[in-house]
Amino acid sequence: MCGIFAYVGNDNQSVLKAVRGLKDLEYRGYDSWGVAVKTPQGFFIRKETGKISNIPETDFEKHEGTMSIGHTRWATHGGVSAYNAHPHFNRDKSLVVVHNGIIENHDALREEIAAVFGNDVFRSETDTEVIPLLIDICMERGLSFENAFTEVCKKLHGRFAFVALHKDEPYMLAARDGSPLVMGLAEGEYFIASDTPAFLDYTNEVYFFDNGEYAKISKDAVTFFNLLSGNHVEKKKEKILWEKESASKGGHPHFMLKEILDQRELIENTVRLGGPAVSKAAQTLEKADNIFFTAMGTAAHMGMVGEYLFSRIAKKSVQAVYAAEFDKVLPFINKQSLVCGISQSGETADLLEAFKTTKKKGGKIMSVINVRGSSAERESFLSVPVNAGPERAVASTKAATAQFTILTLLAYALIGKRMQGEKKLTNASHAIKKWLTQELLIHISHIVETIKHNEDLYVIGKSVNYPIALEAALKIKEVSYIHAEGFAAGELKHGTLALIEKGTPCVVLVSNDEYKQDVLNAAQELKARGATIIGISPEAHPVFDHTIVTPDLENETPMALMISSQILAYYLATLRGLDPDKPRNLAKSVTVK
Ligand code: F6R
Repeated sequence: MCGIFAYVGNDNQSVLKAVRGLKDLEYRGYDSWGVAVKTPQGFFIRKETGKISNIPETDFEKHEGTMSIGHTRWATHGGVSAYNAHPHFNRDKSLVVVHNGIIENHDALREEIAAVFGNDVFRSETDTEVIPLLIDICMERGLSFENAFTEVCKKLHGRFAFVALHKDEPYMLAARDGSPLVMGLAEGEYFIASDTPAFLDYTNEVYFFDNGEYAKISKDAVTFFNLLSGNHVEKKKEKILWEKESASKGGHPHFMLKEILDQRELIENTVRLGGPAVSKAAQTLEKADNIFFTAMGTAAHMGMVGEYLFSRIAKKSVQAVYAAEFDKVLPFINKQSLVCGISQSGETADLLEAFKTTKKKGGKIMSVINVRGSSAERESFLSVPVNAGPERAVASTKAATAQFTILTLLAYALIGKRMQGEKKLTNASHAIKKWLTQELLIHISHIVETIKHNEDLYVIGKSVNYPIALEAALKIKEVSYIHAEGFAAGELKHGTLALIEKGTPCVVLVSNDEYKQDVLNAAQELKARGATIIGISPEAHPVFDHTIVTPDLENETPMALMISSQILAYYLATLRGLDPDKPRNLAKSVTVK
């Protein structure tokens, strides 16, 4: 939620770097944006609603200065407007701030500010605006910019990452307490961003900020400190292995399509790179008394998939729970519990909250993550990377398949059959690579042409295909805005059947397993009420009006069903004239509760 970018270095056109960096961070929020560059005349600030990707760089060329900050916003406090966009500033615009997170006590802080400066000082409805104004108060009382900055950090309740810049100081300050922040290190240049793709063009060497730390960055040096004690903190340089190329569209019209197609190589890769971490994790899982998978959204659906896989393959009981509903299982968390978070970004606020409460009760935390160095990984004593590479479209596709892969491997590893699992998954990977062709895309787009004007759609599946049905519906609604509902095939007769009318599109997920006939029977019931049946299955069945044929991958068939539904969602969005990469009201990384 919200992307921060900041630059300190020798490039006099630093604002262009900020604009480019923000374009790479737009997946984090895209309702408005803003930049500020420190020029000899003071700050040049520009803030607008809409997407920065539509703004030409030539607009900024004449604003020279070697220090810039920028922000792309996903509105929380205050509507979408230029005045609510960041950077926010103090009374005379001598200092500017960009922020990601939530300041929970901002009402009280506003009152404190109003008591000193009066009510007219506020120019926005945001929680962020209190930061520059509080720094202003502290500086007026005689504190240096740096001391004012740390004083203000101590007053803030909630979660934050923010960067502040003063027109008279040769350094920039950046702090983290709860929201992600990373610093890129190049020759004579420092980059600060919410996520690494913003500066991968320039460097892959980074320092990750830990919670409760701030950095003072000038042209020639950077120093990290503990926010509370003020003590100097020694940081370890880390290397990001992702290539910039893998975070680009690679010639495809949208990231979502590119990321769907990345799945041709994905499973094999995830298996190859994940082995050792999976074995280690399996040993821990084996010893745990009660295991919980927790996550949100797509990752939560993969947690539910994991619940089935552990039951079917490993005969191990696991409970999947939405991180936002974690309180439900809290009474059962103790020293013998293992809570496994599943998260692409590793920054989902509800997940981090679930981790916090688990720790308080003495439970162990592990995570299945994609983004290395993320908060979830840093909070876990053990993490298993899914190695899906950067996922830029808001809708998660390849990360979900990679999570599915790791959960399958974990289930096999638990019964001492990791190699067998690897073999099955590698075979599935090869079959998916052969199947995921241009012809398949065209075939699915033709099916979509026949249903794209419908406003309601249902997806059914049974066993592992039940969470896949939930996931298919989520994908369809988030990118196409069609009302889509996924449910267990057996639930059909218990209410939803009442909604089926002539021509209602129903997606039926069928594996070649012991549940096949049950699901086909449910499809028959839908058809009898006039539904148009889109079957996704290794083989055609007479009940289907349209069929998307997948390879038969036995236990791994649900992966192919899920990929098919991602393609279906992609075309439902694009053929309805929508941008699937940036769905309305959403952002990639949900760092607020
Ligand atoms: C849906 C989607 C979201 C995320 C959810 C969790 O396509 O992407 O539902 O899955 O916000 O995000 P992570 O996995 O980053 O914790």
